[in-house]
This record gives sequence, C-alpha cells and structure tokens, in this order.
Amino acid sequence: MKNAAIVTYGCQMNVNESAKIKKILQNMGYNITEDVSEADAVFLNTCTVREGAATQIYGKLGELKVVREKRGTIIGVTGCFAQEQGEELAKKFPIIDIVMGNQNIGKIPVALEKIESGDFKHVIYTGEEDELPPRLDTEFDSKKTASIPITYGCNNFCTYCIVPYVRGRERSVPMDQILDEVKEFVQKGYKEIVLLGQNVNSYGNDLETGENFATLLEEICKIEGEYLVRFVSPHPKDFGDDVIDVIAKNEKIARSLHLPLQSGSSKVLKLMNRKYTKEQYIELAEKIKSRIPGVALTADIIVGFPHETEEDFQDTLDVVSKVKFDTAFMFMYSPRKGTAAATMDGQIDQEIKKERLKRLIDLQNENAKETSSAYKDKVERVLVDGLSKKNKEVLSGRTSTNKVVIFKGDKELEGTFVNVKINECKTWSLYGEIVE
Ligand code: 5AD
Ligand code: SF4
Repeated sequence: MKNAAIVTYGCQMNVNESAKIKKILQNMGYNITEDVSEADAVFLNTCTVREGAATQIYGKLGELKVVREKRGTIIGVTGCFAQEQGEELAKKFPIIDIVMGNQNIGKIPVALEKIESGDFKHVIYTGEEDELPPRLDTEFDSKKTASIPITYGCNNFCTYCIVPYVRGRERSVPMDQILDEVKEFVQKGYKEIVLLGQNVNSYGNDLETGENFATLLEEICKIEGEYLVRFVSPHPKDFGDDVIDVIAKNEKIARSLHLPLQSGSSKVLKLMNRKYTKEQYIELAEKIKSRIPGVALTADIIVGFPHETEEDFQDTLDVVSKVKFDTAFMFMYSPRKGTAAATMDGQIDQEIKKERLKRLIDLQNENAKETSSAYKDKVERVLVDGLSKKNKEVLSGRTSTNKVVIFKGDKELEGTFVNVKINECKTWSLYGEIVE
C-alpha cells in the first residue's frame, strides 16, 4: 500500500481543502500518514497571505528533498502560494512534480497519473481560478467539527490582500448543496458546523435565486439536531441588520463573531479600501452587542500599514479599548507583491511596526483578562472537545462564545454538550465543574 501525507498551512479554508485532498488520495488507494518521511506522495497545501509563509514552505521543501532521494516521493504543492507562484515554483525547486491552485484539486488523480507515467517533468494546474472546486464527501480529523465553504474567492480588493489574486472572483455555492451538506454532517454526529468564505455576508450576490446570508442561516437553523453554527469571516461593511436578527433569535448560531477591524483609523481604513470608518465600526460592534446579549467579538488587526502615524495607531488602540475583543489576531503589515499597498509610498519602518504590535498586544491581553473574568460563577453550555492536550486527567471544551473550559469528566462525554459552572477564570481558559 502506498502512503501519502498532507501538510497544511494557512486558514480554515485550506484545512477544509486538505480534508478534501485526503479524501481524493484515499479514494485512489493511498493510506494517509502524518509522517512525511514514509510517504510516497506529499502535498503541501500552502498559504501566502502574510510574510513568513514562503520561508516555512522553503524549509519544508528542503526536508522533502532528502525524503525524495530515498523513496522517490512525488511532491505536490497546492493552495494559495502555489497558485501565486505557478510554474516558477517548479522551476525554482525541480523536486516539485505538481503545482496547483485549490480550485483544481479534483485533478489530483490525473496529475499523479501523468507524473507516474514518466512522460511529464511537471504538471502545473493554476488556471480556472473562477471555477467552483468539486464537492466531495469530506471527513474531518475531529469528529465534532465540520466546515463547509459557502463562497469561494473575493471581490473586495482590500489593498493589502493577496487573496483576490489567488482565489479568483467571488462565487457562491448553491444553497441546496450547503443545506444538504449540513444535514449530512449533523446526521453523522458533527456538533459544530463552520461556514467558510472570504466575505460570508456577500453570500448569494452572484446567485439569481435571491438567497442571501441571512436566509441561508435561517434555513440552516431549521435543520433538526443539537449543534452549533459558526462562520468566518463576515465583512463589517456588509453586516446587515437581517443577519444580526437571525443570529439573535437562533441559539444554534454561536455567540462568537469574528469582525475583522484591520485598523481603527478612518484614514488608514480608506487607504486599505475597507469601506467603513472608525465610527461605523464601533457603531456596528455596539449594535451587535446590544442585540445579541453575551456575544463575544474577535478581530484581525494590522499595524504599520503605509502612512500609519502614531495618531492613527492610537485610533486602533482606541477601538480596541472601546469594543473589547475576546481575542484578536494581530499582525505587522507585510507587503504582498501585486497588491496595491505594496507599491504605496509611506511604508513604515520595521522597528516601528514591532513596537506598535507589542503595545497593541499588551492592551489586548489586558482586555482579554477582563472579558474572561466576566464568566466567574456562570453556568455555561460547553461542547466537549475531549481530553485536554496539556493534562490528560481533565476534559477540555468550548462555550458558544468559543472560550476554552477545563473540567473533570468522563472521556465518553467527548462530542456532547454539558453544563459547566465556572469557578476560576484565567486569561485564555476557564476552569469549572459539570452541573446538571
Ligand atoms: N500584511 C499583514 N496582515 C495581512 N492580512 C492579510 N494580508 C496581510 C498583509 N499583507 C491579515 C488580515 C486578514 C488576515 C487573514 O491576515 O488581518 O484579516
Ligand atoms: Fe487562506 Fe488566505 Fe492563506 Fe489562501 S492566502 S490559504 S485564503 S489565509
């Protein structure tokens, strides 16, 4: 039996697509292994959204060179970095056999066949960016959490972002197909369904059937069963009242919303082409909090975008102080080749970026401590993820707000919902005991 390994970088969309790649390889008779050194085919499913992704991939290719020399391993590179680099990647690293964007993963069997035939030096599939990738019955590593892409690609062209260039124009998956997949996953026992898209709020804009994100959520919530629905990511500019209302009246939708801020300065937001101001963002966050009691907000924030002054950065700190995110993913701006911001003047010195990032992280950590302490003595419904990775004596789970909770209990409870009374609140996790 032949072995195959898949190494995943980047976002949840890539994790979803890796699960599909795994399924394709299994259907071809491959046994999936975690260990690249014993693999006959290795796929690196890559990301290019921020600096650093490439360095990691180059490092991995160095490791694979040795494996290939020993076993003749076939090497495929899929995902956004592969799509961006195209044939150049195979030229730079001749050990690579296959380069493909993830819209083309359905062609993996053909590509492998071509390489195995010995008639082709490389197989490059980076065209057809605007196609919908194939629908495949996916199995996820976790038996609790399944993800479903609802849109592919992006039309927003935020000036820092490479995604529209590597994932093509926005296209929505037909609603029937999504509902079908949700039903299937719920029947299989998945307890958490994560809807994926670059801008989930614009779901349906390209469909002629009049469906939109609010109607999709509403229809999903009608599907029977005990499960939670999450989604990433909405765009603040398109977050309509209809979506807020559907969330407010459906407990099945998780009380955790990711609302990418990117910057708190209206001037920088304009340069980023985000199409909202500081005030509009704060107003939206406040509206969401008042209409959906107990909701936790999370965000992505970039520091050091071109032309960001100390005053602009203070605006970001100000929004962070006012909105109080549960968690924030904070990044230093890094120019991506081909994007509008990469060639803007006013690029910020690396040392200033580092220093701003540190100040932002310090403030966010203070806030996280505070939002965490609000859980003290509350009883929370918790989805049990399983034994805690750090301490196998206890269970780990998450609240609807996505907060990690540690408590004693039987391993058999994995994948069920339990009520936990919170006794102790640390910044990143809560500690409690199961109650009836
Ligand atoms: N530099 C820094 N951060 C970036 N992101 C996207 N592009 C860049 C870039 N060029 C961040 C954004 C986005 C998240 C996925 O990555 O915050 O929301
Ligand atoms: Fe995901 Fe963006 Fe990376 Fe592509 S570039 S894998 S969309 S994070």
